[in-house]
Amino acid sequence: MDKIVVHGGHPVSGAVRISGSKNSALPILAATLLTKEPCVIHRVPDLSDVHYMLQILNRLGADVERASGVVTVRAEMVETIAPYDIVRKMRASVCVLGPLLGREKEATVSLPGGCVIGDRPIDLHLKGFEALGAAVRVHAGNVKVFAPELKGAKISLKGKFGTTVLGTDNVLMASVLADGVTVIEDAACEPEVVDLANFLNKMGARIEGAGTSRIVVEGVKELHSAEHEVIPDRIEAGTFLIAGAIAGREVTVTRARYDHLTAVTSALEACGFNIVGTNGAVTIRPNGSLHSLSLRTEPYPGFPTDMQAQMCALLATAKGDSMITENIFPQRFMHVSELKRMGAAIELDGATANIRGVNALSGAPVMASDLRASAALVLAGLQAEGQTEINRVYHIDRGYELIDEKLCSLGAQIERVKV
Ligand code: EPU
Repeated sequence: MDKIVVHGGHPVSGAVRISGSKNSALPILAATLLTKEPCVIHRVPDLSDVHYMLQILNRLGADVERASGVVTVRAEMVETIAPYDIVRKMRASVCVLGPLLGREKEATVSLPGGCVIGDRPIDLHLKGFEALGAAVRVHAGNVKVFAPELKGAKISLKGKFGTTVLGTDNVLMASVLADGVTVIEDAACEPEVVDLANFLNKMGARIEGAGTSRIVVEGVKELHSAEHEVIPDRIEAGTFLIAGAIAGREVTVTRARYDHLTAVTSALEACGFNIVGTNGAVTIRPNGSLHSLSLRTEPYPGFPTDMQAQMCALLATAKGDSMITENIFPQRFMHVSELKRMGAAIELDGATANIRGVNALSGAPVMASDLRASAALVLAGLQAEGQTEINRVYHIDRGYELIDEKLCSLGAQIERVKV
């Protein structure tokens, strides 16, 4: 198992190119199951979660080819049971349920369990399928959804913690081939949902309103082949902007979407950084001191939960007291105890992290627990005195393409060590 060793205190500067979005690529790849014709997807990031999704598509009967970021999927025939041995490795495999139900009118997938960032139910996905006319059976750890036919319906995806991103994707993918009009209320507005809807429309779907909380889908009889480029990964871009904030002279993220990063850039500006952006590149420049901040995670366009851990790492050395409240996954604070081992002064009070800025962090051996927590530890290592050893780095490879190489290209000193 690899570990990453970060030698702290080396400034980073320069430009880094952002990869395609993981959280767009996964549902878009699943959506290729909706047609027998080939689909070509560009800018697919080289990540272990993407590999799992391609394996699932393959095991479901699709032909999958991949060549330097371009994936071609041809799903002439599909199986409707997703195999447990692959599904269990990635929670996002649940998003094959929608397209299989849409196309074959039935699908069986292992029920995702909880994960380290908290309880992750799929009740809202299932409620959406039921509204379209599907029956849901849970048996022996699997969830089966099936329907003689799918009929357009009015569906609300409002849950205890707001809406659901993959649930919106799933219901959208099931409804494009339903008979009649589906209205999804309280839909997720994330750019990744818009990207999926744009791809589905290229395949012949009739979707309006993606990016707002009300999506209207007029069902069609069938979908056809399409070609699409995945949007830039806004979480990777935000993570590199924080690398610039933590250890930067000036860092530019290229091939990034400035308009998708507003909540993150506003938070960084409030901490005292200068940010300049266009829809191709965003640059962060230090501006003297790092101020404390209070923020809360929210659905898009609010501050993303997927940037909360990285922000904790930054604010650990901000002057004064900061506060971060996690509203999407209230238990998503596994990084806190590891950051404390590096000298951070953070106390948890329910879903709020109270952070008292310290002068410096010190390198330590730490344990990665999930994807974004791992990124936070790498960021903390950049600014820490001495050496930080991050174990269990397979988590980071799930969602960041070549993070160590990209940071090294900016001047960081990071090694990947085989243990
Ligand atoms: N929820 C329910 N019922 C449901 C679905 C969700 O109560 O049926 C709750 C969840 O427990 C959570 C909240 O609703 O409290 C939001 O969860 P959501 O369904 O939106 O999360 P997701 O769609 O499973 C995606 C991303 C996550 C990201 C969240 C929130 C993908 C593959 N995953 O997950 O990304 O944190 O949206 O923005 O798109 C990551 O990339 O590190 C990551 C975890």
